[in-house]
Parts: sequence; structure tokens; C-alpha cells
Amino acid sequence: MQSLLTFITLLSLVTAHAIPSDLHTRQASSVTDGSWLITWTPSAPNSQVYKGPLRVTSNSSGTYISGDLYNGTVLPNPADGSPVLPRANYWAYVRPTKLTPGSNGGFSLALEYWQLLGFRRTVRGNATIWGDAPFADGLTVDLAPTTAPTGFPDPSNYFSGDLKFAGNGSSAGTFTMGWVSTFLRRIELEIGTVTGVPVPLEDTTETRTWTSIFAEVGYDINVSIGKTDIPEPTNPDLPPGMWKNEQEHAAVLAYRAPTDFDKQWKYYLLVTRLLEGTPRGSMIDESGIYNGVPREGTAIAAEWIVGTTWDGKNDTALPWPAAVRGKKFDELTDPYFRTAVHEVGHMFNLVHPDEFRNDIMTDTETFVQVCESGGGSGGKGFPECIDAGSMAFREHDRFYMQHRPDTHVRPGFVNFGFSAQEFTPPMNGPL
Ligand SMILES: *[C@@H]1O[C@H](CO)[C@@H](O)[C@H](O)[C@H]1NC(C)=O
Ligand SMILES: *[C@@H]1O[C@H](CO)[C@@H](O)[C@H](O)[C@H]1NC(C)=O
Ligand SMILES: *[C@@H]1O[C@H](CO)[C@@H](O)[C@H](O)[C@H]1NC(C)=O
Ligand SMILES: *[C@@H]1O[C@H](CO)[C@@H](O)[C@H](O)[C@H]1NC(C)=O
Ligand SMILES: *[C@@H]1O[C@H](CO)[C@@H](O)[C@H](O)[C@H]1NC(C)=O
Ligand SMILES: *[C@@H]1O[C@H](CO)[C@@H](O)[C@H](O)[C@H]1NC(C)=O
Repeated sequence: MQSLLTFITLLSLVTAHAIPSDLHTRQASSVTDGSWLITWTPSAPNSQVYKGPLRVTSNSSGTYISGDLYNGTVLPNPADGSPVLPRANYWAYVRPTKLTPGSNGGFSLALEYWQLLGFRRTVRGNATIWGDAPFADGLTVDLAPTTAPTGFPDPSNYFSGDLKFAGNGSSAGTFTMGWVSTFLRRIELEIGTVTGVPVPLEDTTETRTWTSIFAEVGYDINVSIGKTDIPEPTNPDLPPGMWKNEQEHAAVLAYRAPTDFDKQWKYYLLVTRLLEGTPRGSMIDESGIYNGVPREGTAIAAEWIVGTTWDGKNDTALPWPAAVRGKKFDELTDPYFRTAVHEVGHMFNLVHPDEFRNDIMTDTETFVQVCESGGGSGGKGFPECIDAGSMAFREHDRFYMQHRPDTHVRPGFVNFGFSAQEFTPPMNGPL
């Protein structure tokens, strides 16, 4: 964004006869895309410092900004990139509602803090409870460039200002924001497998990888291959190699590398041969039923037989083409890899779209139905219709991953589903 603006500026200086009169202010208004570390120090004496991430994206529709504030004493290191703070200290979602260019290289923001008040049991899981109005009815801040404390990767991109109550203009403390990364959020994915199944790492074109798919969302993903000889359970009531859900969860806990959900956003993919109750894959712990920690891992079944149900019966409900019936799932490289990314996608609280979207969060069954009736990519049948284009998070999910509160997206926090799909706190619009 910054370099593009610089380029456009140079270009207009060279070619334009008249430089737009608001060029300077428009330049000054640019808030660099990526993640920022924000702090709020309330003016009350001995008040704690609230801090957290702020995320900025932009396109031709405008600039989109969201953030989260945490209380407590842990101080993030700006050199680490997007701040990760302890879940128990989650305090509020930050929703800027106005961005105005300033005259001094700075800018002004109108802000809302939406406080997380707790959790509520519902029929479908735990819902998050948010304040029904923004904290103190909203805030404003005029931000000016300031010398960054040490550790910030771009010291010229650090701003500070007096936060004011929107209603009466009196001081609410000091607000700072310093740019920390081009990436909006940073996550780690560990993939563990039983012996003899392929680790899903890329599609057949080798262009769709975990890194490329997540980079399009603005995520920094660190993929590591963990234990690849995880022992299989023995279940007298099930075929060899088939896992029960609770066994999957126990394997995640037993075999993954040390994990601290308060310090890292850690996602775990367990690759098995077969899964009880589900043909290709499913999240292991939608809610915290086993150990109180929801969304720790997800699993896929590499040796599910295409065209069968999970228990090996002929699946006559879906139009599986004869050419793929009877194959092992991992022989279909693209559907196999796409399913792995899809199941990890659920860990971000993403659900299946209501209609076919040719994307990651569309389920395989819908692909089979749509592609076999000619509506898939290029009119191709299954599995050829699953191509590089089917391996992207589309607009709705991308926006969700970029701008919904940490509570909704980070693992080990709220239960899957209802609690995270509510449109509270409100979504943010273009500024
Ligand atoms: C942080 O905020 C939450 C929610 O408002 C509150 O319950 C908790 O006591 C606060 N913790 C600290 C350390 O201030
Ligand atoms: C200004 O408004 C805030 C939020 O409503 C309130 O907490 C504060 O006491 C007010 N300050 C003055 C000086 O009225
Ligand atoms: C990626 O994760 C692995 C495994 O946890 C770790 O050893 C490595 O340092 C990480 N790499 C980066 C660049 O953070
Ligand atoms: C499974 O069902 C399909 C569709 O009804 C059929 O074409 C196929 O021959 C069946 N396969 C087996 C192994 O029974
Ligand atoms: C810009 O991004 C927003 C949020 O993701 C999206 O709703 C909008 O359609 C995008 N605009 C363009 C022109 O792509
Ligand atoms: C869900 O609600 C139950 C009952 O209120 C509570 O014990 C549990 O901690 C909640 N879980 C989460 C993740 O909020």
C-alpha cells in the first residue's frame, strides 16, 4: 500500500499536469496494511495498559480495520508480529468507524470498543456475550507520528494520541499504534500422521500450498510435520485403522509438540487411515467436551474408499463417477489436499457456504453433486472440477479470518459454530 502510493505519487509527479489539491492529505491518510500493535493507557491513575492487535486491509472499496484489546500484564514483543495474548485477558473487540486524514502525517479515528462480557450456554453450544452498546458510547483519537519505542520493525510507522470520549471530548487516556507486520495474523499448523499415509502439502500444480492459500488471507502460516508414525488404536467393533473421536483427541494431546494456546495460534491436523462416523474428515473437538478446550485439532481419513460411506457401504446417494469409485481418497491428490485445508478451515470457525462457491469451505459432497451435473469449474466432472481455483478462501471467509474478533477465530477459545457466527459484535465496514 505504502509503496504503491509512493509509486502513484511519483507517477503523477512525472505525468500529471495538475496534482490533485488533496494529494498531500490523501497520502497522509494512508494507514499501512498489515498488523499493528495498539495500546490504550486510560487516564485514571494506576490504570492497567490494554493492548492487542489491530488489522488493516484495503481494496478499492476502502480501508477495513479491526482489532482486539487484552488486559493483564503480558506485554507483546513488536518484533514477533501480530500480538498473541492470553485468552483469559480478552477484553474487547476494537471497531474503528471513521478514518480521517490529518494534516501532520497523522490521522484521526473514531473507535468503538465492544466488550466481551462472558459466555452463555445455548442449545447449540456456548455463545459469546458482548456489550449491547460500545464502551462509553465511543471514542475518538487524533494520531500523530511519534518516535517508536525500540523493537518496532518500522519506526516511521508509529503513532500516538489522546483518546477522547466521543460524547463530551474529555480525555480517556493515551492510544498508540505501531505497525508490526505485513501479515494480519500468524498461526502454526502441525501435521501428524499414522504410518504410511501421505502428508497433504500441496495440490497437483504445486502452486496451491498451505503457505500460498493462507498468504492470500494475509496469514503467516508456519507448517511443521510432527510425528508421522502415530500408533493406531485397536477397536474390536471397527475396521483396522479406524479412529473414534475421543481417540483422535487423545492422540492430538499425546503426540503434538508442546502447545500453549495463550502464546500461539496452533492448529493440528491428524492424518489417519479411517474415521468413525465421517468419510473424509471432521473437526475433532468442536466444543471442549474432552478437556474443556475447544477446537484443538481436526482429522482426515486418507484411506476412505471413494464412493462409500464411512462404514464402507456403497454410497448410492451421491453421483460418484465410476472412474473414482473404489479408489483410496489419497489417490485423488487435489480433493485430498483440499479436504485437509477445508477441515483446518473449520478450526477458524468457518462453516459450509449455503450454496456452491467453488472454494475451500464448500463440502466435497456439494462438489460431487454440482460437478456431476455440469456446474463445476469449466463444466468438468468430479474430481477434475477441483482445481487450483477451488483451493482459495473466498471473500466472505477471507473477511471473517481477517477481521472478526480473536475470540471467534483463534483456536482453543470459543466453541465451534453458533457462538462465533453471530454478527455481534457488529461487522466493520469500509472506511
Ligand atoms: C480483564 O477484563 C475482564 C473482562 O472485563 C475482567 O473480567 C478481568 O477481571 C480483567 N482482568 C484484569 C487482569 O484486569
Ligand atoms: C465523559 O463521558 C464519559 C463516558 O460517558 C464519562 O465516563 C466521563 O465521566 C465524562 N467526563 C466528563 C468530564 O463529563
Ligand atoms: C515453525 O515451527 C517450528 C515447530 O514449532 C519451529 O521449530 C520453528 O522455529 C518455527 N519457524 C518459525 C519461522 O517461526
Ligand atoms: C454402487 O452404487 C452405484 C450407484 O447406484 C452403482 O453404479 C455401483 O455399481 C455400485 N457399486 C457397487 C460396488 O455395488
Ligand atoms: C473489498 O473488501 C471487502 C471486504 O472483504 C469486500 O466486501 C468488497 O467486496 C471488496 N471490494 C472489492 C472491489 O473487491
Ligand atoms: C460453556 O458454558 C459452560 C456452562 O456455562 C461453561 O462451564 C464453560 O466454561 C463454557 N465454555 C466456554 C468455552 O466458554
